[in-house]
Amino acid sequence: MNTPVNNEQKTVVIADKMDGGAETILAQMGITVDSRPARGEIDLEAVIDTADGLLVRSATTVTKELIAKAPKLKAVGRAGIGVDNIDIPAATQAQIAVMNTPLANATSTAEHAIALMFSIARLIPQANASTHAGKWEKSLFKGSEITGKTLGIIGCGNIGKIVADRAQGLRMNVCVFDPMLSGEQARELGVEKVELSTLLETADFITLHTPLIDATRHIVNAEALASMKDGVYIINAARGGLIDEDALEAALNSGKVAGAALDVYQTEPLTSHSLCNHPRVVMTPHIAASTQEAQANVALQIADQVGNYLLKGRQEEIQILGNFCQLDRLAGCNITASFTSNI
Ligand code: MLT
Repeated sequence: MNTPVNNEQKTVVIADKMDGGAETILAQMGITVDSRPARGEIDLEAVIDTADGLLVRSATTVTKELIAKAPKLKAVGRAGIGVDNIDIPAATQAQIAVMNTPLANATSTAEHAIALMFSIARLIPQANASTHAGKWEKSLFKGSEITGKTLGIIGCGNIGKIVADRAQGLRMNVCVFDPMLSGEQARELGVEKVELSTLLETADFITLHTPLIDATRHIVNAEALASMKDGVYIINAARGGLIDEDALEAALNSGKVAGAALDVYQTEPLTSHSLCNHPRVVMTPHIAASTQEAQANVALQIADQVGNYLLKGRQEEIQILGNFCQLDRLAGCNITASFTSNI
């Protein structure tokens, strides 16, 4: 790993729209900040050779081509959790540290998943649209209670744990599938740790909280859907590719799935999709982490992490990649190794 510490003036390029706290904190550290979040890919390529650090959210894709044009780059900071927009192997090869903020938007994301669950259980967006349209369609919107129902959580990391906590407060029974969650941790959380097949067969509501990796791609596919309870509800505020959308649509049309609430999609931004017109699908545009609190948190934390890394080369309390997803380690992903090797 390149040692980032020397006496040269450091420059951090902020490539995506980000809370102003990031710029402020870097400037306070004496780091030059080049913040032009509206720039397109070409502009970024034109300035990336000046960057010791690069901060992104999800709009910028950090490709191996971009990395090849960044000889000084020592750290890429992702203000958020998912690093699927960063070519981790290319960064590892170039000895660039990749950092994220695994905890900073976890609460907002978990709250959005709970909000989606209520939305689809009670058809609130549909009823809202109907009422706004001057209709009074009381009999059309008969929902389901969640009290006493079983919530199956696939992936019980930082976000899944918060969802489990909130769901228990709502008097739901919670079962989780997460191979990295120990029995003791499950007991502490008050949840039942089960195999995926058991979760699929027994849950009334299923919510996904894993990253998208090979091991989790289409974890909800036609076969998984077929094994679920009739009338199951599915919530996804994690990553789009976790669900086979064609299979989901078929299961909605057959009545197997009573409703789905989605914040994320196989292709984003979503411009058109047959699910958009489905009466039992609630959709939001990848906004689970879009709260004032989460956006301030991710910006401050990533600026602090990257700035300190560039100036000091090491941080004792840094949130390292790999914390955010236990399933990554299970799948043999080398994200952790790429970052932790020399700092
Ligand atoms: C994340 O990975 O942090 C969330 O999905 C939010 C985002 O991508 O902006």
